[in-house]
Amino acid sequence: MTEEWKNLQISVEDGVAILTINRPSKLNALDNDTLDELSEAVSECYVEEEIGVLILTGAGTKSFVAGADISMLAEQGVVDGRMNSLLGHDCMSLVEEGPKPVIAAVNGFALGGGLELALACDFRYASQNAVFGLPEVGLGIIPGYGGTQRLPRLVGTGVALEMILTGGKIDADEALRIGLVNRVLPQEELLGAATKTAQKILRNGPIAVQMAKEAVRRGTQMPLADGASLEADLFGMISSTEDMKEGMKAFLEKRKPEFRGE
Ligand code: COA
Repeated sequence: MTEEWKNLQISVEDGVAILTINRPSKLNALDNDTLDELSEAVSECYVEEEIGVLILTGAGTKSFVAGADISMLAEQGVVDGRMNSLLGHDCMSLVEEGPKPVIAAVNGFALGGGLELALACDFRYASQNAVFGLPEVGLGIIPGYGGTQRLPRLVGTGVALEMILTGGKIDADEALRIGLVNRVLPQEELLGAATKTAQKILRNGPIAVQMAKEAVRRGTQMPLADGASLEADLFGMISSTEDMKEGMKAFLEKRKPEFRGE
């Protein structure tokens, strides 16, 4: 892994990579340099064999990511506005479509691009002080990193439109109620809980985990019959793996499986 990042910290332990967005003086707001670093780091984690699960979080206890960097957006015209959005989309799609599970550990403000980044992750845990919102319309713009697309798909059109059109903020309990996050935890337990879940995922067959993510991620973009067909293809493909043989054999021999990702 690259050692030197300006706005990112990475630690890897027992198969889990924790990527911490680190611009605390700007509440971890995403400028294009930070987006570039995040895309690069996520790509490196995807190819690094010893990493099985990624966790994204923000530095400090106040903010996950307080949005795209407004001082950067304030300068944009039509052409670079579109480019800023596309750069964000590239990063979000990479997180969403990559082969390995990505958990968002939302440790404070997840506003604008911060909520959009959390939405691109596979699921979200939040600290009790987390605050969620897409305040863009209040700045005279619209969400530009996928918020208008991923939020309604996750929580339903009506709830998403209320958040997007009012630009209002919701707390962690409300986020839990609408299904935006899976769990709410005290700040000091957040990373531990996300790591524990990551380790639970890591005990499963790694190829199975990757294919299951692919089936859900690609399948939910398709009509049901096409998604079912994709699932059947992947199901057939996984039947050629050593991991499948090991998983079944271990069950029949009443022992824990030793998956090798083969
Ligand atoms: N882009 C750039 N800088 C940001 C930022 C963003 N999205 N969010 C916060 N910051 C900066 C502030 O400008 C401030 O910098 P400064 O100390 O150099 O002035 C610093 O982070 C601390 O923020 P501050 O506003 O003083 O903290 P607060 O606790 O009073 O308020 C927020 C926290 C999150 C409510 C407030 O910062 C905010 O509304 N941020 C913008 C959220 C947003 O609209 N995001 C969507 C952008 S498209």
